[in-house]
Amino acid sequence: MQRPPCFIANWKMNLGVAAAKSYLMDLSKRCADNPDVAKIIIAPPFTALDAASSILKEGQPGIALAAQNVHFAPSGAYTGEISSEMLCETGCTYVIIGHSERRILFGESDEDIHKKLGALRKAGLLPILCIGETRQDRQAGKTWQRLNGQLTAVLTDDLLESGLADTVADWMIAYEPVWAIGTGETPEPEDVAEVHLQIQALIAETVGKGAPRVLYGGSVSEKNIADFMKTPGIDGVLVGGASLSPETFFKIIAQGAKAK
Ligand code: PGA
Repeated sequence: MQRPPCFIANWKMNLGVAAAKSYLMDLSKRCADNPDVAKIIIAPPFTALDAASSILKEGQPGIALAAQNVHFAPSGAYTGEISSEMLCETGCTYVIIGHSERRILFGESDEDIHKKLGALRKAGLLPILCIGETRQDRQAGKTWQRLNGQLTAVLTDDLLESGLADTVADWMIAYEPVWAIGTGETPEPEDVAEVHLQIQALIAETVGKGAPRVLYGGSVSEKNIADFMKTPGIDGVLVGGASLSPETFFKIIAQGAKAK
């Protein structure tokens, strides 16, 4: 059975508690008529997770919550950090790990992301694992080399054998070329689909069971969503800037689901 396409809103460091509440009440109303056509995940800032969770429990069970980051330790002297257990308490199902803004602006390494994946497994949370090449990688013809490196660094045998492999069908892998994030530039959907095939092949080879959804992210908008979603192999999108208005995000969901 074909899984419904997935639409993730990554609000980044935008929308506080009050704005999150009114956004979700608005989006819930818009989605109420079509609850099964799409899987929708919202990733608000940490401070809005609790309020978001209460609203979604009351209104729209079809919308899931994600955190934008996590620390790999269960607790301890890590000023300013949040653990996976704490995220479970807020009603999160998913956590974004490996976003290029975390890798580039905050110096996160593949090793950090590997440890975060282990922490998510222990807590029963699911990853939205982001990978992507830089412009230099692409110009040097090293796109797959970069993506392959980012994936194999985190999909280690010890983690997979600890039970991680059993959940892979529920993961989201977001292919987000760094040069496409927030720039208005996008790759051709056919090129994205080719990368997605390579990602699925690598997962099949290393994990051996279950296929995750592979999503595209980077300057997704109302204008380009249909072209991405009608392309086979693109199971959904991770949307940043264009997800900040519930009206625009809903248009992306509706047009994307229709194009699939
Ligand atoms: P963008 O961000 O849609 O604003 O390009 C995507 C992302 O960073 O996940």
